Amino acid sequence: MARPILDDVENIRTVDRSSMVNFCVNSAKLYREAATLADKIKVNYPKPSNVIVAGMGGSGIGGDLLKDWAKNQTTIPIEVNKDYQLPAYAGKRTLVLITSYSGDTEETLSAFLDALKRKCMIFCASSGGALIENAERLDVQFLRVPSGMPPRAALPYLFLPLLVYMEKAGLVSGASEEFSEAVALLEKISADNAADKPTMENYSKALALNIGKTSPIIYGYDFYRSVAMRFKQQFNENSKVPAKWDVFSELNHNEIVGWERAGDLSKSFSAIFLRDREEPKAIQSRIEITRELMDQEGVGLLEVQAQGKGRLARMLSTVLIGDFTSVYLAILRGVDPAPVKTVTYLKDTLKQNGFREKVISELAKL
Ligand code: F6R
Repeated sequence: MARPILDDVENIRTVDRSSMVNFCVNSAKLYREAATLADKIKVNYPKPSNVIVAGMGGSGIGGDLLKDWAKNQTTIPIEVNKDYQLPAYAGKRTLVLITSYSGDTEETLSAFLDALKRKCMIFCASSGGALIENAERLDVQFLRVPSGMPPRAALPYLFLPLLVYMEKAGLVSGASEEFSEAVALLEKISADNAADKPTMENYSKALALNIGKTSPIIYGYDFYRSVAMRFKQQFNENSKVPAKWDVFSELNHNEIVGWERAGDLSKSFSAIFLRDREEPKAIQSRIEITRELMDQEGVGLLEVQAQGKGRLARMLSTVLIGDFTSVYLAILRGVDPAPVKTVTYLKDTLKQNGFREKVISELAKL
């Protein structure tokens, strides 16, 4: 007889391949270390007229979190670029924040090259690779972060420098004040969701259990847009499960229609609503109506309630719940959360087309 699924979550304590859990458990510590590192950042550029963060996957999500955290206060646009080229408006007055954990990602190196050619103001955060090598050689400002982690687990090291840079540049304010609350909350969430906490008292284990064999869909709103995106990425990369995300209120204008005739298909999904006790009334009504509609169609409905006061604490603590859940879901699904075989395969296969080498040789000519 198959082992009951609950045992699988409980047994995570004894499952060797759970090292990804440690990155979650140590989240607050990593943020503190990242803060010490980021303290070294010196801003030498004049005020930009716009900001572009260039980074892919686990290195790009920091840009999305920054954009959402800052959206109610910045007076200049922040764009997240996940492409080979920067948008046409990028120029001398653009601040480009380049983030690549390995420093060797094809699209990010290409965006770096593009930023150099357009004489943008550039700041890089990476653990090494061609990015740091070239930044050092070309006297471009950079922050070297510790190596040896899966990029998505290095989020503290890639997100915090962006926030610190923006604050030191006078483009945002309040990050430092919000940081202490956020880190204290991360510590609490880590303790509450650690592997040794039984499912009854562990929100992330229970959430993973409820997702079970379904494919999670995460619905956020406003600044939870990037948090929903992070959930999706973590379910993909850690749990090895298809997942998708969407955002209120846009999803009320299209996504919701897709459930009308989903039939048996709806049983294959769980919808996770990212909630906040201070969500605007208009959004609250939309969430409630959407839940009712999806309930009628038989979609599993789940929720994550944000904790904390400041926006940073709310965002990062919700991210951490998603990170933990994705690792527990991996264990439930019998997969190792750490490797991302397909991403590695794709990168290796693409190397053969020589594009990355071409970018690197163009960089060498500068
Ligand atoms: C996350 C992960 C990927 C990478 C992405 C970009 O753990 O493996 O999402 O983050 O392929 O690579 P880097 O981060 O090295 O620029």
